[in-house]
Amino acid sequence: MRRPLLAGNWKMHTNVLEAYLLVAEIGKCSVGLNDRDVLLAPPYTALHSVANVLHDSDILVASQNVCWEEKGAFTGEISPTMVKAAGGTAAIIGHSERRQIFHEDDEMINKRLLGALKFGLMPLFCIGETLEEREAEKTFAVLEGQIRRGLAGVSPEDMKKTVVAYEPVWAIGTGKTASKEQAQEVHAFIRNLLAEMYEKAIADSVRILYGGSVKPDNVDELMAQADIDGALVGGAALDPESFCRIINFT
Ligand code: PGA
Repeated sequence: MRRPLLAGNWKMHTNVLEAYLLVAEIGKCSVGLNDRDVLLAPPYTALHSVANVLHDSDILVASQNVCWEEKGAFTGEISPTMVKAAGGTAAIIGHSERRQIFHEDDEMINKRLLGALKFGLMPLFCIGETLEEREAEKTFAVLEGQIRRGLAGVSPEDMKKTVVAYEPVWAIGTGKTASKEQAQEVHAFIRNLLAEMYEKAIADSVRILYGGSVKPDNVDELMAQADIDGALVGGAALDPESFCRIINFT
């Protein structure tokens, strides 16, 4: 069975001190959660201190993006080995804010993904359609394009190490969540596509997270869906009480 993964994406929130206070609270309420993984993605400036606080815990630390090169003239970027040296073991890649605000395209996201895998980081590969695309009934075509281009050259072995996050753009930070039926429908589509691209056993082992306004009051019903294996949480991840409730979903 797939082990649930609850991930908090802090985006561009928390300075070093705020991150320290937030992770201390989350650390307390995650004690004893042995049947699920919890992951935090603080801003780069807090990555090391958050990982330090967590060094005795099972909570995973991720960067919010990652470059494909180990070092060099890439101003503003962070390399996979820097993330690892700071205590991170994973990286969010292809978040819709990267795609939309910073114009990262599928080709660049693919390079980042391959780079993360090459240096041993677990990628959280994000995909999602806009409202316009959903209304034009292009959801599946858009997602298929993002998946096929984003995963180009990813070997079956590496696919097993990759996490997919479905985040409909219209549900991110808007308070609008996809209904559990809408989310399940898309997750099943993604799994079938992965089975076609790889093989069923691999598709069955890949964790597919849902993201977009996940909150304490909708997490249980989302997690009860057959193909939803976890959540990528933004806003509610900054509030310790809400995030603690989310990671303790039943
Ligand atoms: P949200 O963000 O939970 O605030 O909608 C989710 C995300 O962007 O990962």
